[in-house]
Amino acid sequence: MSGHTDMVLVDENGMRIDGRTAEQHRPFKVEAGVLNNADGSAYVEIGKNKVLAAVYGPRECHPRHLQDPTKAIVQCKYNMQSFSVSDRKRPGPDRRSIEISKIISEALEKVVLTELYPRASIDVYIEILQANAGTRCAGLTAASVALADAGIPMRDIVPAIAAGKADGHVLLDLNKEEDNYGQADVPIAIIPSTDEIVLLQMDGNMTREEFDYGIKMAVAGCHELHELQKDALKRRYSKKAQEGSE
Ligand code: CDP
Repeated sequence: MSGHTDMVLVDENGMRIDGRTAEQHRPFKVEAGVLNNADGSAYVEIGKNKVLAAVYGPRECHPRHLQDPTKAIVQCKYNMQSFSVSDRKRPGPDRRSIEISKIISEALEKVVLTELYPRASIDVYIEILQANAGTRCAGLTAASVALADAGIPMRDIVPAIAAGKADGHVLLDLNKEEDNYGQADVPIAIIPSTDEIVLLQMDGNMTREEFDYGIKMAVAGCHELHELQKDALKRRYSKKAQEGSE
């Protein structure tokens, strides 16, 4: 988010460097149930981001001092693989991955019926296999499908996407160049049935009007992504039903 570059991010026709218009998101792909040994799993692509999520639980919470006698806790671990970025990333947790794990856990706690499982932990692992800006959104999108795939009761499935600003234009779903050299990045996640926002961060600056417009675009993008999340789960369960009847 440096805000100044010689690179043209939006041309005179309003076209972005990857050929999108301001309001277009990158191609989405959502698959549910991609791992055999986790209780639930999902694979998501948002453009060049490739993300796997795996869920275990509800299971007894360890360490025990984290247990809540009134509800389950959602413990998310977001991890960016060394090979996911162009410069090899030093393996292991850093400030950024701890922050992203925290905000994703908090977003998921808003939809999981945690009160059904006192003292339990629901463990969510997010692995970034390939990164191109927007990995926290792709990670949260995958995690909520993996939770549903694990059969964990939820109020809704959460989709997430970023809006932002580059070259003075408000844009949906920033790619890496737009994120690095643009003026603002605003990832959001919603509960689609109510349009409540469960994640909202902002890096950089926008006017109030630009912000409102960006949020409107991102909410629309979330609804599109939500349709694909539901389709992925339907495909998963129709396949299971077929296997069961054979
Ligand atoms: O991925 P997201 O946009 O949610 O988070 P960010 O902190 O805004 O990072 C933006 C992008 O920078 C990532 O998606 C990666 O493509 C890149 N990045 C990187 O190349 N190396 C890192 N250690 C961290 C981020």
